[in-house]
Amino acid sequence: DMGGHDTYMHKEIHEQAEAVDRVLRGRIDDRFSTVRLGGLNLDAREARQIRRVKILGCGTSYHAGMIGAQMIEELARIPADAEPASEFRYRNAVVDPDTLYVAVSQSGETYDVLAAVQELKRKGARVLGVVNVVGSAIAREADGGMYVHAGPEVCVVSTKCFTNTTVAFALLALHLGRTRDLSVSDGKRIIEGLRRLPGQIAEILEQEEEIRKLALQYAEARSMLFIGRVRGYPVAREASLKLKEVSYIHAEAYPASELKHGPLALIEPALPTVAIVPDDELLEKNRAALEEIKARSGPIMAVAHREQEKADHTIVVPKNENELDPILMGIPLQLLAYHTALALGRDIDKPRNLAKSVTVE
Ligand code: F6R
Repeated sequence: DMGGHDTYMHKEIHEQAEAVDRVLRGRIDDRFSTVRLGGLNLDAREARQIRRVKILGCGTSYHAGMIGAQMIEELARIPADAEPASEFRYRNAVVDPDTLYVAVSQSGETYDVLAAVQELKRKGARVLGVVNVVGSAIAREADGGMYVHAGPEVCVVSTKCFTNTTVAFALLALHLGRTRDLSVSDGKRIIEGLRRLPGQIAEILEQEEEIRKLALQYAEARSMLFIGRVRGYPVAREASLKLKEVSYIHAEAYPASELKHGPLALIEPALPTVAIVPDDELLEKNRAALEEIKARSGPIMAVAHREQEKADHTIVVPKNENELDPILMGIPLQLLAYHTALALGRDIDKPRNLAKSVTVE
């Protein structure tokens, strides 16, 4: 049942405020400015002994993991990174007993992720699952974890599960942070930020008509470049994936900081750039990148917290705490991908060549 929407993708994009509300529900502990995550099966002493966090997932879940790794590193000050589970499996990675491994999967059935979990477990590692489907293979195989409570996702491309997974990671980062050195006041600040998310998501979704018009304008592009820096980079990666999956337009994501090391050669009027420009420490750096692109007559669409002069169009999103901004900044670009695909007459809920869960090698 699509509840009045023309596709599941559209329905699921619009369910995100409610979905985020669900992943937060019952987990915030105001007394200690932290969150309670009963299913982790990780006591405080164990949480303090973690030396590294390694996040494994595929596709969109990998991108959510990239955002999660940054949040864990920022809030808990534990070195963290994300890697495609499909790559990790085949490189005989060093399995380290002081590393916390986190497997991310919407379906909980993705074979590459499951196989990575099984290999890790066989070698005695501790593995948590961040999963949407309750009771799925990865959830059962992991030592503990969190459900992201996004509700069923039917569209082959992931939207609300991505968002909820990034929020779940914010909770994990806050929990690990408050078990270690994150202050009470920072804990409070993050909790207040988390509570603002559902309302801010609703505000972003209200801009759909404006985003639809932008999509019509850019739908003729043969290729698009997505750029972002640090917190914005995984957002650019995910937006680029979403656009290619549903519209079949070629898209490439690049760190804005790397433009001058190659991709600037591509910039011309026929190549639009979508830039993620948060109002954070890197704002001036990002502005300089927009100038470089503008100087070469590249069209620019910015997703930012305020109007960007150098951009042809800015989608203004509400500001949250710096660490939580990545959760919100990709949401308008889900709508951009959707409306581009709609304009091009694509099979939005079932893009060619793709399946909802990849349970084979
Ligand atoms: C993208 C998409 C895929 C999945 C990937 C992992 O929109 O849907 O990239 O994210 O196949 O799937 P899960 O999260 O079920 O492990």
